[in-house]
Amino acid sequence: MAATKVAIVMGSDSDWPTLEPAVKILNEFGVQVDVSVISAHRTPEEMLQFAKNAVESGYQVIIAGAGGAAHLPGMIASATSLPVIGVPVALANLDGLDSLLSVVQMPAGIPVATVAINGAKNAGLLALRILAVTDEVLTKKLDDYRESLKDLVVTKNTELQNKIKQQLKP
Ligand code: RP5
Repeated sequence: MAATKVAIVMGSDSDWPTLEPAVKILNEFGVQVDVSVISAHRTPEEMLQFAKNAVESGYQVIIAGAGGAAHLPGMIASATSLPVIGVPVALANLDGLDSLLSVVQMPAGIPVATVAINGAKNAGLLALRILAVTDEVLTKKLDDYRESLKDLVVTKNTELQNKIKQQLKP
């Protein structure tokens, strides 16, 4: 099995369905992921301990997802120099705008690379791109993945053209 490289942390188990696509894409690329629930507000000591030990634990990138007053990504970034990717999780109220602003509006000095609301798949892909800087095999896989997206669009366009032709048949 590949060495553990990416940690995915979330504020609550209720965030799991939103964060799962990040795990899936990382697994697809053969990168091992550790997933855990750590809360900035409910378990602040554990959160700091996790962040301070992250390098020693073998992580190279951290993906942190949280919703509402979402301080987890920023607080983790304050206690480690590893790259932190923030995923704003949409809750029932405010459509995730609260989470987005909480995660993205970091003060100068402590960056969090914030993806779209519920954008966990891109968080996984961004983590892969960071790891790929020093991994040629991963770079090739990411190149192939981008190519596959192009092929997908070509296929979708062909299908749409056929459908339109059928509909417009006299
Ligand atoms: C945040 O509070 C978590 O990240 C989650 O998105 C939200 C709600 O948590 P639960 O009440 O579902 O545990 O800290």
